[in-house]
Amino acid sequence: MTRILSGVQPSGTLHIGNYLGAVRQWAATQREADAFYCIVDLHALTIDIAPDDLRSRTLDTAIGLIAAGLDPDVCTLFVQSHVPEHAELSWLLECVASYGELRRMTQFKEKGAGQESVRASLLTYPVLMAADILVYDADRVPVGDDQRQHLELTRDLAIRFNSRYGETFVVPEAVIPVVGARVMDLQRPDKKMSKSTGTPLGTIAITDSSEEIVKKVRRAVTDTGSDVRYDVAEKPGVSNLLEILAAATGTSPEGVAARFSSYGQLKQEVADELVSLLAPVRERVQELTRDPAGVAAALEKGAAKAHAVAAPTFARARAAMGLTARNQ
Ligand code: TRP
Repeated sequence: MTRILSGVQPSGTLHIGNYLGAVRQWAATQREADAFYCIVDLHALTIDIAPDDLRSRTLDTAIGLIAAGLDPDVCTLFVQSHVPEHAELSWLLECVASYGELRRMTQFKEKGAGQESVRASLLTYPVLMAADILVYDADRVPVGDDQRQHLELTRDLAIRFNSRYGETFVVPEAVIPVVGARVMDLQRPDKKMSKSTGTPLGTIAITDSSEEIVKKVRRAVTDTGSDVRYDVAEKPGVSNLLEILAAATGTSPEGVAARFSSYGQLKQEVADELVSLLAPVRERVQELTRDPAGVAAALEKGAAKAHAVAAPTFARARAAMGLTARNQ
């Protein structure tokens, strides 16, 4: 069976960008593949985050993922730092990666720009990501478009390791979803929807009430003119609404555009679709929030399943590089 792996930042409550762009696809593929989903708490430490926030956001992210349809009995859902082989393999891969190729990563340049001090881990971030993937022999990695470059690096590192130390890793492939891959901020349609860097009014959480959803969609910025068509360059606001509607209803943004003759009509339908799509998700979030011990137990089971796969792969990599055998 094909093994897929993806990682999600512990940014807390999921928003519709996460949900429509990635998590809903994950929920669909968990039954067709051997699926691993990892909450990347170690990656979250590459920028400033308060310990209490990291703790609560990790739990909220797990709750959101389960509520959005990831079934811990079907897929392997776990927290990155609960499986020590990620960080360990990352070190070995740092000895295969070069400073030059890491420094050239777009995300490193963007996140590091203008910072007074940049954590060393921000530079090595993509190597840890490579370890997340390679330690599970993952065949396919569903990621957003912004992670394409990191996936290329992962493949380069796997190929380099294999040629230097002998066949050890599976060389994974990126899977970039076509529909709903990029949901933008409703107030800043030139920016990806994001809980940390987006605007509050431009971000719809999966836990937002129906009233909040309606309000945010109604206030979404639109563009000059009044015709509804999918044109990201000329009409970023309208195109984003079409993108959301298409992702929510499983159609294409170009296709749905023809149905509308005004912005108001489009907004009404986007709001209606989101309200009915998110109501059951919000209810499951509330149930899980009342049962933190149950969530922790599910994550513990996930970590045990993950560890059983990661340990032998890591042992193979250690041995290939000439590290002597150890007992645990
Ligand atoms: N860097 C990814 C992001 O910001 C998250 C991530 C970490 C990831 N490890 C991964 C994604 C492994 C896919 C596979 O979205």
